[in-house]
Amino acid sequence: MQISKIKLSTFIVTSVVIGGISLLFAFIPAPDNKTWTAPATADKETNPIVSSAAAIEAGKTVYKSKCIDCHGPKGKGDGPKSADLDKNPQDFTKAEFQRQSDGSIFWKITEGRKPMPAFKNELSKDQRWQVVLYLRTLGKK
Ligand code: HEC
Repeated sequence: MQISKIKLSTFIVTSVVIGGISLLFAFIPAPDNKTWTAPATADKETNPIVSSAAAIEAGKTVYKSKCIDCHGPKGKGDGPKSADLDKNPQDFTKAEFQRQSDGSIFWKITEGRKPMPAFKNELSKDQRWQVVLYLRTLGKK
């Protein structure tokens, strides 16, 4: 009991300190910020994979096996699993989404944010960049 109380207060103090520092450096977003923003360094990264039919097809294969359940067949965020999530997956067909840089999208796929899993370990870098290329096709009318 005692120990868990000490642990809890240590945790709270630590959280407050870390939270304060994050606020000072406003570029570190609070964990449950509504808008999800990639760090500037990630935002500037460019896609090392040249877009081609083969690369887009590879991205589509990844999308179908790892993303479609939540994000839906057309990327509208209406996959069969989306109803069970406490947050809506984004609509990839929207201009707001497509305005983001490749680097930002790549970073979000890499890091994830609950309930979206991180794909850092599950997908290779090439696969993540290929998925970015595929997501671009969903925005085109
Ligand atoms: C378990 C369901 C789930 C799976 C699987 C999933 N996502 Fe997500 N995704 C989400 C949710 C929910 C959000 C919104 C998260 C937020 O705003 O905090 C999201 C957000 C995103 C975003 C950010 C959208 C924006 O507007 O910035 C991208 C990009 C993305 N997902 C890509 C993918 C890709 C690519 C895959 C497969 C490799 C994938 N997701 C798999 C649920 C999922």
